[in-house]
Amino acid sequence: ENIYVGVDMGGTAIKVGICDAEGNLLHTYEGPTGTEHGPEVVMDNIASYVRKIVQDSPFEWDQVAGIGAGIAGFLDIPAGFVKLSPNLRWRNVHVGSGLEKRLGKKVVINNDANVAALGEAWAGAGKGVPNVVCYTLGTGVGGGIIVGGKLVEGFNGMAGELGHMKVVPDLEAIQCGCSQKGCLETVSSATGIIRMAKDAVERGDDTSLKLIDGDITAKDVIDAAKAGDEVAKRIVARAANYLGKSMAAVAVVLNPQRFIIGGGVSKAGEFLFQQIRESFICNTTEAAHEGVEIVPATLGNNAGVVGAAGLLIH
Ligand code: BGC
Ligand code: NA
Ligand code: ZN
Repeated sequence: ENIYVGVDMGGTAIKVGICDAEGNLLHTYEGPTGTEHGPEVVMDNIASYVRKIVQDSPFEWDQVAGIGAGIAGFLDIPAGFVKLSPNLRWRNVHVGSGLEKRLGKKVVINNDANVAALGEAWAGAGKGVPNVVCYTLGTGVGGGIIVGGKLVEGFNGMAGELGHMKVVPDLEAIQCGCSQKGCLETVSSATGIIRMAKDAVERGDDTSLKLIDGDITAKDVIDAAKAGDEVAKRIVARAANYLGKSMAAVAVVLNPQRFIIGGGVSKAGEFLFQQIRESFICNTTEAAHEGVEIVPATLGNNAGVVGAAGLLIH
């Protein structure tokens, strides 16, 4: 019996999972990414977590039919390498062959948000819906587009980079890690929310927000917004507003039935979703938004590993 290993590589943690041929997640394991030590060490870490999870499971190494990995960044999928990862700060890293060499197994790679979208489409909030678009709101903003039940990869794998849609007007735009200014990621990621909060505190705005050792989390900002802090409310509203705007653009291009939003920031729940829906509706004509749903992801942290393992199954 064959098993499939899914790898979800994030900026801070690498999650690995074993799936059976039906895509059922049987075991998971998580360890630190080690981004600060560079790509070779990160690949060593992935390889050691993959070996460990199989070792600790009832399965044999020979049963591993292949490994699927989701990685943050603009990926040349056919060629199996990371062309640019704004948040990992990687350029031209050959992860596919690097892992094959370490593991002696077939490895396929895809974008982290793409595999999360696949996971949600197969087993989560997109199940049974052929046209869905996913956003992941974390360190960056990721995107995954599914049309007619199939992932859209584009000509060399870089489709669905929704976090780098330029939605913020030039006058307010700030620098994005991708080299452009005004990307969605600069305002709607956890990093963007944190940056806006720090700016507000450092400017001396009238707010309950506090930096602890110079730091604050996106959750702190969202909680303060829920509690009525005006400054925090404006930061969250801004994140939601531009997200809704980007969805309006996506809606007139692809007409998806459902938008699915995952990642840490989406845990803000209805408080955030309501504002995103308002912005989406406000930025589209009725024909473009009628019947279109905006819903939270349901697989939580497992969407990535399930989708990554599924790259080899489906
Ligand atoms: C990267 C995407 C990634 C997203 C979420 C963005 O900065 O460009 O490839 O999917 O962050 O990790
Ligand atoms: Na993507
Ligand atoms: Zn960008």
